[in-house]
This record gives sequence, structure tokens and C-alpha cells, in this order.
Amino acid sequence: MARRAKVKAKARTAVKKSAGKKVMKLKAKKAAAKAAANGLPRPSAKPWGQAGKALDGVRILDFTHVQSGPTCTQLLAYMGADVIKVERPGVGDITRGQLRDVKGADSLYFTMLNGSKRSITIDSKHPKGKEILDRLIKHCDVLVENFAPGALDRMGLTWEHIHKTNPRMIVASVKGFGPGPYEDCKVYENVAQCAGGAASTTGFRDGPPLVTGAQIGDSGTGLHLAFGIVSALYQRIRTGRGQRVLCAMQDGVLNLARVKLRDQQRLAHGPLREYSQFGEGIPFGDAVPRAGNDSGGGQPGRFITQAPVWGPICDLIGKPEWKTDPDYAKPPARLPRLKHIFTTIEQWTMTKTKFQVMDICNKLDIPVGPILSMKEIAEEPSLRKTGTVVEVDHPTRGKYLTVGNPVKMSDSVTEVKRSPLLGEHTDEILSKVLGYSAAEMAAIKASGAITAPEKTKAEAA
Ligand code: COA
Repeated sequence: MARRAKVKAKARTAVKKSAGKKVMKLKAKKAAAKAAANGLPRPSAKPWGQAGKALDGVRILDFTHVQSGPTCTQLLAYMGADVIKVERPGVGDITRGQLRDVKGADSLYFTMLNGSKRSITIDSKHPKGKEILDRLIKHCDVLVENFAPGALDRMGLTWEHIHKTNPRMIVASVKGFGPGPYEDCKVYENVAQCAGGAASTTGFRDGPPLVTGAQIGDSGTGLHLAFGIVSALYQRIRTGRGQRVLCAMQDGVLNLARVKLRDQQRLAHGPLREYSQFGEGIPFGDAVPRAGNDSGGGQPGRFITQAPVWGPICDLIGKPEWKTDPDYAKPPARLPRLKHIFTTIEQWTMTKTKFQVMDICNKLDIPVGPILSMKEIAEEPSLRKTGTVVEVDHPTRGKYLTVGNPVKMSDSVTEVKRSPLLGEHTDEILSKVLGYSAAEMAAIKASGAITAPEKTKAEAA
């Protein structure tokens, strides 16, 4: 009896052990599968481009104005984020009225920087307005702003307050300068181009410093900020918490002008041989000079006449003898003769249209590009086809052109929508995003926190 019981007990233990082993094996298998999948969802089975947009589900509290901040949030909107632009009741973003071309309609300055966004009006200094903003902070992932230094704090929206209200919130700012002697200064485009090193290195040697037409201070910094925000969103997946993201316009411009800081350091080791002034025998000072249209890419002068294409260029311009002439055959020999060489090339290009030059040279692998006017760009069919230039319709100004998403993605389709009218989505956001009841909305309206005329009434009361 005792023996039989012992055998039974042993058998039970064996069964238990093998069951336990099976469970362990299953768990290990699951863990392995999870590790192999990196804990991420399985790839979507939906067709490419139909599985939503890259930033679907990300909500942005857009406190930006003028150009730098709006460039950033418009790009995020193009990528699929729900961008809620907060504007001052009755006034809105100052650019709505700047450079107006159509009476009574939002300017192109505004419409081309605020597409695909929603607009809500809130007086951020009104107690009820502050309440709405706090609720928005709880419902959003990122707050983006480019106010003057200290303005956000003066509204009571300090980092500490925001982080306490929503620890996952990312707070992204454009400022003119980073911490340092100029951190309290207000900054616009030209100031940034000057302080970031672009202006001192742009223009002709014997002329004044110039700013470029491309808005590298404003739009360039907005672009940098968008990169910071997306990185912070990615890090938040791991850490579960938001962080502050700062992009100073001076830093953004310098990042784009980095080849000139490269040349500044090279200057310590001798003259910059690829600059036209070297070939012309003009001595260098102790700072990188302006170099006209000389390229920063390292090839001599303003034309790209790199060694591999020198032969075909000589044939094209009717100077086949330059291929073997010791004064022209090798790049160092050409340096003192750049002006003459470029003039000869131009004598040939002047016999053709810019598009003919493009056709002829590209067939020979010689990189060239036509100088396109904005008119030509606006009318270029291929840019319309790719969505880089988009026509949208606006209720008060009619059709206008805007620049679509310059970044093309195979699984995230960009939808470029017209810019919102001032406060166009106030009711929709209060009720559908923030969940205010009809009675609460009536109270908000009466308080003067979201509408300029009501504010006058409330103040008068
Ligand atoms: N409700 C109530 N007040 C609001 C508001 C709202 N919805 N939105 C803005 N304001 C207030 C701000 O709180 C601020 O008030 P305060 O000075 O009493 O604190 C005021 O409007 C003006 O904001 P500010 O940013 O100082 O605007 P500005 O026109 O004086 O300066 C810039 C404009 C661009 C120079 C400045 O914002 C700046 O330097 N920004 C950072 C750098 C930048 O982005 N520059 C490039 C812009 S393209």
C-alpha cells in the first residue's frame, strides 16, 4: 500500500514537472517571439499608404506665430498630427494681416504656413482661458511655441506647471538665441542669418553681407524643431515622459552654414584654394570671406567643373585642347585661370537656353541646373504632380498655391488642406476634443475668454 502510494505520488510529481516544463517552454517561446518582434506591433496588413499617416494620433497644441513655429507645426500636420492652433481672440496670428494681397482675406504669408491645421481662439491671460489651456495640455502630446523669451512663463505656462499637468507633454520652443548673453532678445529672420554666420559669408567679396532669400532662420529653425519633436516623441515611447526641446535660430542657421565654419578652421592652415579670390591673387584675412557664387562643395569657383567631367566640358565648349594643355588639364593648374575658364563656358551657355544646356550636359553626366524663376516653379507640372506645389481653395481668398510636403513617404500620404479661418474650429475643439457640455460652452462664451466682442462686454460689466 505504502509502496503503491509512493509510486502514484512520484507519477503525479512527474506529470506536474512535465506540465511545468511545458508552461516554461511556452513562456520562453512567447518571450522569444516578443523579443524578435522588438515588442512592436506586427506589420500592418493594409496596403501601402492606406494604414494612416506617420503622426496619426499625435495632437499638437500649437502656440506658434509668424514663420518659424508655424513652419514646424505645418510639417507635423502634413505628417498627420492634429494641430490645434491657439490664437488671440479677434486678432489671431499677426501674419493673417501682413502683406495682404486680397482685401479682407487672410494673407498668403499666413495661409501658406498654416495649412492642414485647426484654429481655436483663446485669451491665454483670461482665467477661463487658462482653464481651457490646462485642459488642452492634458489632451495634447506636444506644445509648440515661439513667443518672445519669458512670454509663456508670463502666461503661467511654466515648464513645471505643464509637466505637472501632463508629464507626457513635450514642450518645444524656438528662440532667437540659446542660453547666453543674448538669450532675452527677440529675433527675426535677418538677425538670425547675421548671428548664425550666414550673412558674413554670403554676397560678393567687395559688397556688403547679404541674407539669402531662403528663410533659413525662420523656416530652417522650424524644420530643426520638427526633428527635435519627433525625436522626443520617439524617446517618450521608452521613458513615458515628455521633455523640453529648444531650437535657437542662431544654432539652426549655423548648422546650415557649417561648411563656412569648416573653412574658418582650414584658413588657419593656408588660403582657401578653391575660392575664386585665391586664383585672382587676393590675400585672405583672418575670417572666412564672402565668395559670391563659389560653391561650398569644394570644387573651384562657381561652376561645378569637377575632374571627372573636365574632358566632356572641354569638348562641349569647343576647347578640346584644354584636356591636355598643362595650364588647364589638372584642377590645381586651373585655379589661377578660373575667371577665364568660366567666361569661356558662359560664352557657350549663352548660345543655348537653360533647358538645352540642362539636356546636353546631363546626357554627359555633367551636373548642371537651370536658374528657375518663381514663375517657372509655380507653373512646373512635375512639381504639381508630386504634391510639392499644391493648389488649395479658400473660402475668402479663393484658390492659392502653397508648398506641400517636401518629404515624400511611401506609407504616409500627405493631405494638404487650406489654412483655417480665425477661430474656425473653436466650438468643435471645445466640445469634441475637450468634452465641454453645451452649458459649459455657453459660460465660456459669456466669459469673454474665446471671443473678442464678448470680452468687451464682460469687461464692461
Ligand atoms: N492670448 C493672450 N495673449 C497672447 C496670446 C493669446 N492667445 N498669444 C500671445 N499673446 C501675448 C503674449 O503673451 C505676449 O504678451 P507679454 O509680452 O505680455 O508676455 C504678447 O502676446 C506678444 O508676444 P511676443 O512673442 O512677445 O510677440 P512680439 O510680436 O512682440 O515678438 C517675435 C515677435 C517673433 C520677435 C518674438 O515672438 C520672438 O522673438 N520669438 C522667438 C523667436 C522667433 O520665433 N522669431 C521668428 C519669428 S518668425
